Amino acid sequence: MDLARKILFVSVLLHVSTFASFIKVCQNCHGKNFEKRALGRSRIVKNLKKEEIVERLNYFKTSNSIMKSYASSLSKKQISLVANVFGK
Ligand code: HEC
Repeated sequence: MDLARKILFVSVLLHVSTFASFIKVCQNCHGKNFEKRALGRSRIVKNLKKEEIVERLNYFKTSNSIMKSYASSLSKKQISLVANVFGK
């Protein structure tokens, strides 16, 4: 493997592990693939459209929802990652 490929490979791994770590807390309530109703009352996130996930997470940042602190800790980039990986 040449150096350029190695660098690419490592940076992909790092990104994946960062993603896995910030998403862990979400999975406690939403399920591994966002397939559950969090606390029995959220909608099933994996059935939402990408744009809807982005919209909801931005909304929660200034809401009274239980989601407020979780959404507030996410960067724009992390929100778009969640939407792209789990949304429809
Ligand atoms: C303590 C449990 C809990 C954790 C942890 C949690 N959520 Fe939630 N989530 C909820 C609940 C409950 C709702 C519904 C809240 C509402 O409508 O006010 C929700 C709603 C959502 C929605 C919108 C679905 C809908 O009902 O419209 C998205 C998207 C979402 N969460 C993503 C995330 C992400 C991403 C994380 C991690 C950064 C996360 N959640 C962490 C409980 C949780």
